[in-house]
Amino acid sequence: KVLILDFGSQYTQLIARRVRELNIYCEIHPFNKIPTDPDSFNAVILSGSPNSVRGEDVLHPDLSRIRGRKPMLAVCYGAQYLAHFSGGEVAPSNTREYGRANLSFVKDKEAFFSGISRGSQVWMSHSDTIKKLPTNGVLLASTHDVENAAYKIEGESTYAIQFHPEVYHTTDGKQLLENFLVDIAGIEQDWTPQSFVEETVDELKEKLGNDRVVLGLSGGVDSSVAAILLHKAIGKNLYCIFVNNGLLRKNEFDSVLNQYEGMGLNVKGVDASARFLDALEGISDPELKRKAIGRVFIEVFDDEAHAIENVKWLAQGTIYPDVIESVSATGGPSATIKSHHNVGGLPDFMKLKVVEPLKALFKDEVRRVGASMGMDPNILGRHPFPGPGLAIRILGSLTRENVRILQEVDAIFISNLKSWNLYDKVWQAGAILLPVNSVGVMGDERTYEKCVALRAVESTDGMTADWVNLPYEFLQKTSNEIINKVKGVNRVVYDISSKPPATIEWE
Ligand code: XMP
Repeated sequence: KVLILDFGSQYTQLIARRVRELNIYCEIHPFNKIPTDPDSFNAVILSGSPNSVRGEDVLHPDLSRIRGRKPMLAVCYGAQYLAHFSGGEVAPSNTREYGRANLSFVKDKEAFFSGISRGSQVWMSHSDTIKKLPTNGVLLASTHDVENAAYKIEGESTYAIQFHPEVYHTTDGKQLLENFLVDIAGIEQDWTPQSFVEETVDELKEKLGNDRVVLGLSGGVDSSVAAILLHKAIGKNLYCIFVNNGLLRKNEFDSVLNQYEGMGLNVKGVDASARFLDALEGISDPELKRKAIGRVFIEVFDDEAHAIENVKWLAQGTIYPDVIESVSATGGPSATIKSHHNVGGLPDFMKLKVVEPLKALFKDEVRRVGASMGMDPNILGRHPFPGPGLAIRILGSLTRENVRILQEVDAIFISNLKSWNLYDKVWQAGAILLPVNSVGVMGDERTYEKCVALRAVESTDGMTADWVNLPYEFLQKTSNEIINKVKGVNRVVYDISSKPPATIEWE
């Protein structure tokens, strides 16, 4: 496996994803928290950083147990760090070094650059430049503006590059990573969805033995894949609970419950709609809605979990981006760990041990693992859906009637996206019920009814997103159908805001 030391670059997670695309397992750790057993890693990659090696905010990793002992690839800040503190020189660059560049020189017969030739496009993003190579440095590549674009250290398996191999615009970036990890570090490419499933199932068997485990299914990809993995390991000792909070999409509870049963899961569907809707009736503040939903969920889940005798574990579908410790831009040892906001935390009195079989995986890997276990593409390809469900898409006061209206509107929008083959091109879509009435005319009558907004975005992780350019004919047909079929709605608008500055949800 590969250790990626993070110096706070916005691209660190991308490095990890590229490495894993090569079927090699890797982990990200903060630069100042190097694992105590570096020998369990076969190679180390130093990430980039927004900081400078010259300023006061220089980040000092303790590389003493790694440098020269493990194959090392230093990217951007990493490359400057090795140069600056080992006999080289780093200075502010005179020309802007952001964006595309092409290799103007590549040293012959270097395994590191095998298959990559002069002219290959690379992506630069730095304001300091390496003026002089470190002691024993050998120049491997240059671009027009950056002479020391890549070097190695003679006598060590240490390589350094000023550009970013992990970004898409570095055309041969993946080849370069493969050259380093496979040819130079000798790592086998055997980390596949199948091998992950085999290993994880074995580990789960070992860890859980005959214990009983409870898991809350949400209908989403992560909890579903986690359930199937656990089911493979412990079968009927996995007790799944699928709660209808009354805020799911139209017919979702029954159809998803059927699917779960079809997969052989030991699942109990709990219809707690009334309990949730009673708790929410009339609440309009978004955070109060979230709190009320979280509280009722825990009550319901806890009642159900207690009804299972002798349960020892709580399983969760937490994934890797939720647990990576991030390095703050100032390099302080800040450890911001995001909590899994779907479940809203576990009440202390439940005293269950937690098992999280997906916590090493990125979202796309979760899907691939699911596919390799033969799961239905309809489940794996589902759009993300917020834990508080339609409650945060009903702006203003939440009533049963508003939930019903929004379910109807949403169902038309989503089923049209599917029938127009647009569903898979969209990362997330939904409808929002606005707290405004507007004037319309239907037949000879003046109406004063509700307005809904449709939202469809493209994204990779929900952190940034852009609205999708849906065809006018699609919007026209969908709007017509909504206004004609859903009583109480006389106006439809389409949200054309990107994130940032807007968010995906309206509250
Ligand atoms: P925003 O609105 O912050 O949404 O751009 C980003 C992603 O997070 C989802 N989201 C939530 N998910 N509980 C959840 O489980 C929440 O309270 C919540 N709020 C937003 C949203 O659907 C989008 O995918």
